Amino acid sequence: MKQTKRSLFVCQNCGQENAKWLGRCPSCNSWNSFVEEIRTKTKESKRSSSIATQPVLLSKVPLIDKLRQPTRIKELDQVLGGGIVPGSIILIGGEPGIGKSTLTMQIANNITEEKDKSVLYVSGEESIEQIKLRSERLAVKNENIYLLAENELENILAQIDAIKPSLVIIDSIQAIYSDNLSSSPGSVGQVRECTAEILRRIKREQDVRPSVIIIGHITKFGAIAGPKTLEHIVDVVLYFEGDKFQQYRVLRATKNRFGSTQEIGIFEMSDSGLVGVDSPSLLFISHARAKTTTKTVGSVVIPTIEGTRPILLEVQALAAPSYFNYPQRVTTGLDIRRLAMLLCVLERHCGMNIGNHDIFLNTSGGLKITEPGGDLGVACAIASTYRNKPIASGIAIVGEVSLSGEIRPVVQMKNRINECAKMGFNQIIGPDYTMKKEIKGKANIKTIGITTVSEALEVLGIR
Ligand code: TYD
Ligand code: MG
Repeated sequence: MKQTKRSLFVCQNCGQENAKWLGRCPSCNSWNSFVEEIRTKTKESKRSSSIATQPVLLSKVPLIDKLRQPTRIKELDQVLGGGIVPGSIILIGGEPGIGKSTLTMQIANNITEEKDKSVLYVSGEESIEQIKLRSERLAVKNENIYLLAENELENILAQIDAIKPSLVIIDSIQAIYSDNLSSSPGSVGQVRECTAEILRRIKREQDVRPSVIIIGHITKFGAIAGPKTLEHIVDVVLYFEGDKFQQYRVLRATKNRFGSTQEIGIFEMSDSGLVGVDSPSLLFISHARAKTTTKTVGSVVIPTIEGTRPILLEVQALAAPSYFNYPQRVTTGLDIRRLAMLLCVLERHCGMNIGNHDIFLNTSGGLKITEPGGDLGVACAIASTYRNKPIASGIAIVGEVSLSGEIRPVVQMKNRINECAKMGFNQIIGPDYTMKKEIKGKANIKTIGITTVSEALEVLGIR
């Protein structure tokens, strides 16, 4: 065997490598992110042919859907597409304190409900006593959960070999380092190489492959350290979002080799761990918003769709004449460029002189509007605050706004109408086309179809 050493500079944000130090990364444009790493490469003379894999007949490959291991946490299973696929690597990212360790401990508990399953929980950050404390809180009773407070990758791999668990949890990958690399723990090189080494170790196993959950911290830019390099190594990437000062958390998949990335899971942090939320609409609209007859200025409820699930969301807008040369546009939960477009539509097609107004826009709980179906609701909320005319409470509004001020159809209208009816709304305003196509008068709600933004404002009496 021959060993070679070479020095490389690696961008700590995106993993870009360069032979020389650079002030700015050409790949991700971040400044001063290159750090020197020494690579030691061991050249093995020749690969032995015994480890080469053999081709398999497609018809003989078992269906993974049958092998999936449900975590029995309903919200999580929904995001994963039914459960954890054996031999897969799942990356869970999120800010500190959001509940990653809590969720993984609950998974460990549920998996070990079955007798022959075992879990190895590797913590590089907390002591065994701290983990025990958490498990007490979560009322973890099952045996077969092994705890390991260890930072060195080689020792962890040895323990995986010895215990042969069905699931390995690494909390967190930034705290793990390999002795074969000279870069410091948490650097992109270490994070990537450790993950790749774990992957190699897992895929080597022939029959029962352990699944691995890797926890990754998020950098202050909102990316998992070494994101590009890690995201293509692993099979599933989940992000835990939400405000740690609020009760609920949203679990979102940004990559899933075994399912859709459309579904989200909604949890509430309780005294005894994370609990799935069955009726998320109640979380995001102020209570009793639907039923009362009170009228609020600048507030609109939008039936949005997350995956296959309708969620009612409340947006609030505030407009006031600006005292600056450049009026302020501040949004939470909506893309600022989308807002700019809607403001322009209101100005050009609805005759509102809104360009010299400061605009503030919030979604309830900070949940993001990711689909264009939220457009019309946002436009109506702004019009309502600008005209200082209230919108009655029992009304929900949905529709995509085009540049010409027309309303485009939205998907899954039936779902949205049913959710609104279920939550006690008595009217829904939406695209004429989809309204006509979908159930009419079936649900216990009045449906009003419109074709332009001005028509919607007309109906609401805020034109
Ligand atoms: P934690 O899972 O340690 O977050 P992370 O691993 O993502 O950093 O816990 C997050 C917070 O949740 C922590 O501040 C304590 C709180 N918590 C509860 O409110 N209830 C509980 O049952 C547990 C275990 C934690
Ligand atoms: Mg933690």
